[in-house]
Amino acid sequence: MDQARYSSVAVTLHWVIAILILGQIAGGLYMHNLPNSAPEKFDFYQLHKSFGLSILSLTIVRLGWRLMHKPPALPAAAPGWQKIIARITHWIFYALLFLTPLAGWAMVSVSPLNLPTYWFGLFEIPHLPFFDGVEDRGALEDTFKERHAFLAFSILALLALHVGAALKHGFLNKDGVLRSMAPKVGAYIGIAAIFVVLGIGAVFYSIVGSAEKNSDVSPVVEALNSGEPFELTRDEKGSWTIEPMLEQEVAPTSDEKTDDAVLQTPTIEEASPVGARATSWIVDEGASALKFIGEEGGASFEGTFSDFSADIIFSPDALSESSIMVEVRTASAASGNEFRDGTMVDSEWFDVKDHPTATFKSSVIRNVGAGAYEADGALTIKDLSKDITLAFTLDIDGDNANAAGGVDVIRTDYGLGMNSSWLEKENVALGVRIEFEIAAKR
Ligand code: HEM
Repeated sequence: MDQARYSSVAVTLHWVIAILILGQIAGGLYMHNLPNSAPEKFDFYQLHKSFGLSILSLTIVRLGWRLMHKPPALPAAAPGWQKIIARITHWIFYALLFLTPLAGWAMVSVSPLNLPTYWFGLFEIPHLPFFDGVEDRGALEDTFKERHAFLAFSILALLALHVGAALKHGFLNKDGVLRSMAPKVGAYIGIAAIFVVLGIGAVFYSIVGSAEKNSDVSPVVEALNSGEPFELTRDEKGSWTIEPMLEQEVAPTSDEKTDDAVLQTPTIEEASPVGARATSWIVDEGASALKFIGEEGGASFEGTFSDFSADIIFSPDALSESSIMVEVRTASAASGNEFRDGTMVDSEWFDVKDHPTATFKSSVIRNVGAGAYEADGALTIKDLSKDITLAFTLDIDGDNANAAGGVDVIRTDYGLGMNSSWLEKENVALGVRIEFEIAAKR
């Protein structure tokens, strides 16, 4: 018996959503990595949100259709376990297609930035209403951001399984399952029609929507690009107004400082002013260095990690929104001594095979004087985490920043060189200094 086909509506929605999802993931990654100063960043976000909410709407229609129309059964010859896995995969897909855009919508709704969402520049989509009483909006925004990215990547993972199974049906089993979802005339017309509508939306956004932006939202873009803290409010007519934030109370400059002042400089855990934003910084790896300084046999040695990446979101005016995340590829450690470098990768030291990365993730960053900061956070090496405090100085000049600092750690806290002979025979000191110099651009 011929394998029954999905209806044209189901086929249309299947392929439209599949294509949109791939575009949405690629676009999401692209825009996330754009520097904040890129003028097109705001537009990318608006289009991402417009397409994402379209996916949510189409998914609602699709689920409604699915509940009202029984899909064709898998071929009778397919083993029971395959049918069960196919069913589970399909329902997890539906859940992800709902939860991913919802997490994105929740992220922008709770964001202290309070940026509006215009559906292709046509009309404003309201924020989700559930976050009125939330105190730490920045922290909740971060949580939704993580969930959003996780859910989006889960779609990709499930897609790999789904496409693999579909191809197996099509080319190994040749049982008609792949063909049952192949578009025919009706579905081609449906797919084309939806893309024409969305395409017109995108074109409309770039022509008319940009006029809307110029009149209404563009000060937001301007303020975003200036890097200066600002407050965003709406008047009764619905227009956005941007107020520069009042000067923060800042620590005295080095010229103004007396020794007493240095001693008395309080440790300020700054709360971000409402509307102040931490911006993302892109590290210039060529101009940055991560070093470790140890002692072996009574002589000091210095090494570097040549391969590390850092995700830095930072603004002196928005410290509670700021964060530093560093990932170091342990295999890149080198100290210019062949024997030592050969040993460092072994299980007794970095155990590169099982623990290819070491990380630092900040929890709190504070200002401790003019241009001086401390970042508390967890340093994790070989799955062993310890709370440390990185002390660093920072010099921001326009869109460029240079930071330098370090921390002293005890190597055995991280399971490095635990065999006592490293201490007794080789005389490798327990204390290791980690130092960094970072050059970054926003
Ligand atoms: C099924 C639909 C969606 C998919 C597959 C998707 C996928 C993605 C991906 C892969 C990223 C990059 C994540 C990262 O690198 O951190 C991203 C970022 C983002 N998404 Fe979505 N998204 C969808 C819907 C939405 C919706 C509906 C909204 C809001 C209304 C939204 C708002 C955002 C925002 C604001 C970011 C940027 C986060 C950042 O820059 O840190 N997304 N999205």
